[in-house]
Amino acid sequence: MKFVFFLSAFLVLGSSIMIPHIGPATGKPLPIYNVDIDAPLRDQWAPILKDFKAPFAKFIHDFRAILPLPDSFYSFVGKYAKHGFKFQRYVEEIEIFSELLEADFNILFTLNLLYEIQSGKACTSIVFRDENGRIIHGRNWDFEFWSELAHISFQINYHKNGQLFYQAQAIAGAVFFFTAQKPGKFAVSINARHTKTFLTNIYELLFTNNVPALYLVREFMETVDTYDEVVLKFKTTPTVDPVYYIVSGPGLYDGTIIEKDRDFVKQSFILTDETWFLVQTNYDRDIPDPKHDERRTPAEQRMTQYGQSLTEQGLLDDVLSIFPNFNIATISSTLMSTQTGYFNNTVWY
Ligand SMILES: *[C@@H]1O[C@H](CO)[C@@H](O)[C@H](O)[C@H]1NC(C)=O
Repeated sequence: MKFVFFLSAFLVLGSSIMIPHIGPATGKPLPIYNVDIDAPLRDQWAPILKDFKAPFAKFIHDFRAILPLPDSFYSFVGKYAKHGFKFQRYVEEIEIFSELLEADFNILFTLNLLYEIQSGKACTSIVFRDENGRIIHGRNWDFEFWSELAHISFQINYHKNGQLFYQAQAIAGAVFFFTAQKPGKFAVSINARHTKTFLTNIYELLFTNNVPALYLVREFMETVDTYDEVVLKFKTTPTVDPVYYIVSGPGLYDGTIIEKDRDFVKQSFILTDETWFLVQTNYDRDIPDPKHDERRTPAEQRMTQYGQSLTEQGLLDDVLSIFPNFNIATISSTLMSTQTGYFNNTVWY
């Protein structure tokens, strides 16, 4: 019962009332770290996480103050991590995080399932084909604890055999990525999709082999090599929770939005000769957005207004940094283009 109470507190946090960004929005580039993907995990993470120890401690402190889950809850989740979670690779990695950040393992593991448990809805992802036939992919990452998360976010460039392998927007202590690009191959961003209830997500996590939706991004960056294959895999891999995958690639029509349920695709949408852009927020496209949160339409109007002469910078300045797509919860904006390998992260706090 206690648990239900804490849960309600979080559901309130997850309600979607758009508040503008307060004060001047001056973006900064995210710090960039280069990592050899074949180095031992501890060697990969130690030089990065030493820079985030203090802001990470602040995040945990604020998180626990706003969402006072009982220790018994964290120790339950921690036991599940060690004995029930099917993806032990990530458990081992979170143990390393715990050591390097000097943070409690049980809390860290729980945070790594935050999207699965409950999350707000405010992200915007856009894929379009410019007048030269180049695909540009942009996204705003919006989440609760925006200021805290902004200060523990960074860009990670993974290298393999001395070559750039893939790039991601990363969060200290997290094994997953919301946004990533494999240059020349494909890019992906994730938006939250709420057709789920908390209890069914917990059920899926505990009693099925489904993968947390966010973890697949990392998995596929490492193992998949083409746009077509990654689209197919995102469509067909069972996930713990519903999600929107926005995928782009180097080809003229390489832009897809996948409205994914746990075990099937509800609908998917692609770029065509007529459809030169796709905008995704947090609602399915076969029904109008709810009146209190119409974020897709204003972004679509701006895309139509500016047309295919938009550049990455134009997408940021004229679409992604305008309210309501840009709001108080917007932590960072990422611009990507698989064909040229352009990958640029701006953080807003
Ligand atoms: C990245 O984006 C920022 C913000 O728009 C811009 O000022 C900067 O020039 C961009 N960097 C590159 C390398 O394009």
